[in-house]
Amino acid sequence: MAFENTNETALAACVVPTAAELRAELDTLAAGLPDATPAAMAAALDAADPLAGLSQHFTIPALGNIPAAREYAAKNGQESAPCLYLCGHSLGLMPTMAGELMNNELSAWGSHAVLAHFDHPGKPPHHRAWVDGDEDIRESLAIMVGARYRHEVISMNALTVNLHLMMAAFYRPTATRFKILCELGAFPSDWYAIQTQIRLHGRNPDDAMIVVKPRDGERILRLEDIKAAIDENADSLAMILLPGAHHLTGQQMPMAEITAHANRTHADIRVGFDLAHAAGAIPLALHAWGVDFAAWCTYKYMNAGPGSIGGVFVHDKWADMGPDSVRLSGWIGHSMETRFRMDNVTDYVHGAPGFVISNASPFALATLRASLVVFDKTTPATRRAKSIRLAAFLHYLLEEAGLLGKQIGLLTSLEPAERGGHVSLLIGRGGCRETSRSVHRALEARGVLCDFREPDVIRVSPQALYSSYADVLRFVELLKQAVNSVIPE
Ligand SMILES: Cc1ncc(COP(=O)(O)O)c(C=O)c1O
Repeated sequence: MAFENTNETALAACVVPTAAELRAELDTLAAGLPDATPAAMAAALDAADPLAGLSQHFTIPALGNIPAAREYAAKNGQESAPCLYLCGHSLGLMPTMAGELMNNELSAWGSHAVLAHFDHPGKPPHHRAWVDGDEDIRESLAIMVGARYRHEVISMNALTVNLHLMMAAFYRPTATRFKILCELGAFPSDWYAIQTQIRLHGRNPDDAMIVVKPRDGERILRLEDIKAAIDENADSLAMILLPGAHHLTGQQMPMAEITAHANRTHADIRVGFDLAHAAGAIPLALHAWGVDFAAWCTYKYMNAGPGSIGGVFVHDKWADMGPDSVRLSGWIGHSMETRFRMDNVTDYVHGAPGFVISNASPFALATLRASLVVFDKTTPATRRAKSIRLAAFLHYLLEEAGLLGKQIGLLTSLEPAERGGHVSLLIGRGGCRETSRSVHRALEARGVLCDFREPDVIRVSPQALYSSYADVLRFVELLKQAVNSVIPE
């Protein structure tokens, strides 16, 4: 039967409990334990975690490999113990199967060379003729981003390249409709991509970029302000390009509401999302929401390795734009039936695969496959259920440790519907770059891998696939030590 990821399934995955409900869950757990210490709570949560066994499918760097933590590791005799990895929002851990799948592609190259394009010596499900590209993982990707059909997704290139390709097709400015709406503090690559697309069309970014800002004294965008910016520019807005979740603040954008508002405002406004911090992190229902296009990377939450292959979503409504549609085109986007005729007649593949330009490296697909093997043991809903509980436990422990509101502030909302996959911490009330940097250094010296981001943010992300509640507890203990070493209580 043809694959179809129903809207209902994708939308149901997006329904999450509130922060108050999660807090009540933790209070109930504590009340039911004979000994309600954080350690006993973490143990109980880990024992009940249906995803607990999945961390064995990942390789965690050893403490001794972190230069800043060598002294700490040696002092505690823990050089080969795993570090506390909370940086999956930057680079996900290596799936243990990655080496095997990569080596098999190398072997196929060695043993079959050009033949492996059509006759691969490896066996499905993990090895396919190279000419098939990502055929075998498209359903997993569709489920990951809430595409309804396989032809709405494809793996290709890297994220910013894909944003450019999507804009080449969907940003078609006219004399009156030429503006692109984005956010203040957009990731630099997105900003540059938008600016240069505008320039490519001979326009000035100063006139054509609508930049939505947080209100004075706030750092999170409000939906009503995004809607107001759409309304104010209803006659000139050509495109909205926003993140699914914000790289710095961790804010999850209300993608459904933004898309619905844009679609109601004018049929010619195209809506796209950069899902760098959303794909693999939060459940998505791109088809059901009516999003026109989206692009993502796979090296963060999707654990496919540094510089791994990106992906795009193109809504089914744009599946057949015809041979005259404007896109930056290449031969792999052309139908298999006609591709090798070499007759130079345009014959695009239906849907997102019609946007592919070049052939994909089987080495890049190998690591993505290795990661999706683990994802496929779960669902977006089960991953999100754990992710929001890990964050709720973090919140609970920060409060219990007396850190919250005093030495630690939260930039990211802990309302699950408003946050992506990471939590952005502020040291004190924020605003002090040097203090945040020093706390980050002190964490690294204790074997915690998370990151500091200008101007004053420490980002941490316990991951549904490989983090435990015990990891969250260990983090809060080490954070307390780190903070106290920098700012005495
Ligand atoms: C939000 C966002 N957009 C774009 C990029 C750039 O991705 P790439 O280097 O794969 O083009 C990143 C990278 O971290 C990102 O976080």
